[in-house]
Amino acid sequence: MMNWRVKPLEQIIEGAGRKSLHRSLGAFQLTMLGIGAIIGTGIFVLTAVGAERAGPGLMLSFIIAGTVCGFAALAYSELAAMVPVAGSAYTYSYAVLGEIVAWLVGWCLILEYAVAAAAVAVGWSGYAVGFLNSVGMGLPHVLTVGPHAGGIINLPAVFITVVVSALLIIGTRESAFVNAVLVALKIVALVAFIVLAGPHIEPANFQPFMPLGFSGVMAAAALIFFAYVGFDAVSTAAEETKDPNRNVPIGLIGSLVVCTLFYVLVTAGAVGAMPWQQLIGNAEPLAHVMRVLGYNSAAQLIGAAAIIAMPTVILMMLFGQTRIFFVMARDRMLPDFFAQVHPRFKTPHIVTMMTCVFVSAVAGFFRVDEIAELSNTGTLFAFICVSIGVVVLRYTQPERHRPFHCPAVWVVGPASVIGCLYLFISLPLHTIERFFIWVAIGAVVYALYGYRRSPLRDGASASEPAA
Ligand code: ALA
Repeated sequence: MMNWRVKPLEQIIEGAGRKSLHRSLGAFQLTMLGIGAIIGTGIFVLTAVGAERAGPGLMLSFIIAGTVCGFAALAYSELAAMVPVAGSAYTYSYAVLGEIVAWLVGWCLILEYAVAAAAVAVGWSGYAVGFLNSVGMGLPHVLTVGPHAGGIINLPAVFITVVVSALLIIGTRESAFVNAVLVALKIVALVAFIVLAGPHIEPANFQPFMPLGFSGVMAAAALIFFAYVGFDAVSTAAEETKDPNRNVPIGLIGSLVVCTLFYVLVTAGAVGAMPWQQLIGNAEPLAHVMRVLGYNSAAQLIGAAAIIAMPTVILMMLFGQTRIFFVMARDRMLPDFFAQVHPRFKTPHIVTMMTCVFVSAVAGFFRVDEIAELSNTGTLFAFICVSIGVVVLRYTQPERHRPFHCPAVWVVGPASVIGCLYLFISLPLHTIERFFIWVAIGAVVYALYGYRRSPLRDGASASEPAA
């Protein structure tokens, strides 16, 4: 019931050519796209949960997670430049590791994109509720949190999911200009935080640096890895990029470097300006720090930036999800209606609505850190497959033209795999269990559906296994 055959690269690139998307993005726009997709719930919300696990060592957690993502980004860049078509890790895996792995990667990208969208929606809700309370228009508590916190449903999280999905259905693609404005807003808010919190940093707040030991730092790194998710959205846009061979690697690595810098500085301000214990349990920790330090206007600015700019992260995630479904349906791995477009809006409306229902259900009822951690499992799996794939392809097709060479691939590839695995096993056990249940469901769906419809099934256009 398994198909290990790969889809030849030529076939993938030609296949995309039949329905190709317009190439309009440059290096700067891609970097902005990356930053737009990256900065969100991770830094604005999960900082509090991360501090609870690592104390001031959270700064180290950000550096560890950022470094692992850097290795993965280099691997992504080589494949994204070689195979500049939509579909990201799913497409690369199909070309290198075979159909069953590609299917599982596609299945796990649902965790990376759709489940991540839910986590960002819950993060957005925390800031929106804080804002509504501050203007005396607060909702009843039971309508702002899920059953895990004594509520019924997180209504603001469902609301923002439905709004963003509706925008996607009517064809809203955030323009490069709007994205640039929103990225600037996020950056202004984070710079304001760093500048205002910086002078309040007390070295004593950094002691002890790792109150819960290195395992605490790793547990936090496994969670706040979420703060970096999104950089590979740049590779998903490779099919729409001018000169992808040059611009995709710049976009991926550039956005990652900028974000790591901000995350470490913001964390230093958050855990250095007051004892880290004061962050615990806060749904809007950065605004909270500003209020405690007496900067109420800055707290409002940060809250406003989060409320205005975070929906763009949801938009990117939902958009990425629908494009992955589109490519999988194009490969006949999913029913054809997944690729069906609305006659008037020309968008994949059915699949967007289905994604909306799924994301709303997750966002409405679950805890943000649990959702983010589950999302991380899928992302880490995809990163591991891409990192293995880049090394395998160097071995099986050494002569193939590589516009971008991952430097020291024999070190970077394995380092990425080991780093991702280390983060994976640092996640809570219940999260790891949920991941394997998800994978098992995916394997059954593949055996009952994807395998039967595979265009490679009769071997007519397949090549032999890569390794
Ligand atoms: N990296 C994105 C965020 O932190 C998903 O919201």
